[in-house]
Amino acid sequence: MIALFDSGYGGLTIFSSVRHLLPQYDYIYLGDNARTPYGTRSFDVVYRFTLEAVKTLFGLGAELVILACNTASAKALRTIQQVDLPRLDPTGRKRVLGIIRPSVEALGSLTPSGHVGIMATAGTVSSQSYVIEMSKFWPGVKVSQQACPLWVPLVENAEYNKPGADYFVRKYTGELLAQDPDIDTVMLACTHYPLLAPKISEALPGGIRLLTQGDIVARSLSDYLARHTELEMSLPRGGSAQFFTTENPDKFAGTASLFFDGGLIVRHIEMA
Ligand code: DGL
Repeated sequence: MIALFDSGYGGLTIFSSVRHLLPQYDYIYLGDNARTPYGTRSFDVVYRFTLEAVKTLFGLGAELVILACNTASAKALRTIQQVDLPRLDPTGRKRVLGIIRPSVEALGSLTPSGHVGIMATAGTVSSQSYVIEMSKFWPGVKVSQQACPLWVPLVENAEYNKPGADYFVRKYTGELLAQDPDIDTVMLACTHYPLLAPKISEALPGGIRLLTQGDIVARSLSDYLARHTELEMSLPRGGSAQFFTTENPDKFAGTASLFFDGGLIVRHIEMA
């Protein structure tokens, strides 16, 4: 199975695109809603929580885990790939992937002027992961980052489409553009933020392109599976989706239903 993990609802924005492009596989989604947000937590805590999630998802039968969370990708992916994975899966068949690398590859190719903005959690911004990866792939591009710490709570508390959200949308977009008025492309580098995208588009001056990560990650996963045929052949193809949350399943189903049609089966899970 292919598993997607996020601190809460945000990864659903990625899952929705992935399932749309690759509907044939069986999927598991896990949201750590009981401990969200991750974006304000320290490196060690995000790493520990993310490792617990990976172990839980392997225990549920996942062959491939996507950290559909920029904060977890920034703070935990490398250690999990290099240190934990060889121990957790001595056969070497299982994989853990993040979402920063594909996002960076796309971002640099889409900016006409070479001035981009990254809007992300405080944790992703302070990790410098986007700045470091961009300098490797697109050394000529000027990257400005803006931490948006109030946006995840607005999404997790279902306030993202209410008038109260407007103030914080304008505050952070304004602060980003004050750093570099020549920005022509903005990436929402937190998987929760697409729920705020209509308000963010309204707040940005016309002509600035707003990018979300769902389609970028879905296309990158499709390419990855085409290149890793042994893994791809081992994936079950039932077209199913199971949802797990560390919080209340009924509450989770309400938000998940924004992205997926039909009755969703959501179960509570405790992470080990
Ligand atoms: N959705 C997550 C991300 O992409 C993090 C949200 C949070 O828990 O702070 O960074």
